Amino acid sequence: MDECCAPRPPDGYDREFDDRFARRLARDYRRDGLTPSAQLVLEFADSVGLTGASVLEIGGGIGDIQLEALKRGAVHTTNVELSSAYEPEAIRLLDEAGLRGRATRVLGVDLAGTPDAVHPADIVVLHRVVCCYPDYRRLLGAAAQHGRRAVVFSHPGNGLWTRVAARSINALYTLTGNPYRSFAHDPRAMEAVLTGQGFAPRYRERSGLWHIVGAVRA
Ligand SMILES: C[S@@+](CC[C@H](N)C(=O)[O-])C[C@H]1O[C@@H](n2cnc3c(N)ncnc32)[C@H](O)[C@@H]1O
Repeated sequence: MDECCAPRPPDGYDREFDDRFARRLARDYRRDGLTPSAQLVLEFADSVGLTGASVLEIGGGIGDIQLEALKRGAVHTTNVELSSAYEPEAIRLLDEAGLRGRATRVLGVDLAGTPDAVHPADIVVLHRVVCCYPDYRRLLGAAAQHGRRAVVFSHPGNGLWTRVAARSINALYTLTGNPYRSFAHDPRAMEAVLTGQGFAPRYRERSGLWHIVGAVRA
């Protein structure tokens, strides 16, 4: 899509996902490693084959999954983020691991609106991201377009409690003037975006709130 006509990404990511949030994620990752849900994402990526693979992560935060993917043999990772708050922690973690030369961090690009902004990769990851973005069709569609071999994403489901929680938190955001919104998209409709682009879901796992779906090019 021509960049002049691309829809603007929603506001509020910098405020919602701020320095404090980033520091907490980095502290927890240094102490405990990947969260159980992130481990499942990595496990699927490894089952597809990380050795020599390129990984594109949309909304990858501090880049913890990317670091582990690089340690398991991924050749290069690219992170695309809308919040700038993660960058200092992400760079520090990459330097500590001696992996900075194999990671690219792209800031302020919404792939859903400007799909040509980054190159395709073997494996595309969206962990805890679709629930932060209104247009899952466009976002997962862009992810599928960029995935040469596989796409893996996680979501919180859309059962009654998830929908109630999303509405309640959005009401609070409205009251406090925070433009950020959370979303409980239909899981089947999200998978349908991937199948519509030639992917076959072959991995479904759950860790706590998070459902992980991994799909490979059919
Ligand atoms: C809940 S955070 C998760 C961060 C990281 N994936 C993790 O699990 O720690 C969601 C992230 O998705 C990012 N995000 C949402 N929509 C995005 C988009 N269209 N492109 C890039 N990043 C996006 C937000 O900026 C935010 O940092």
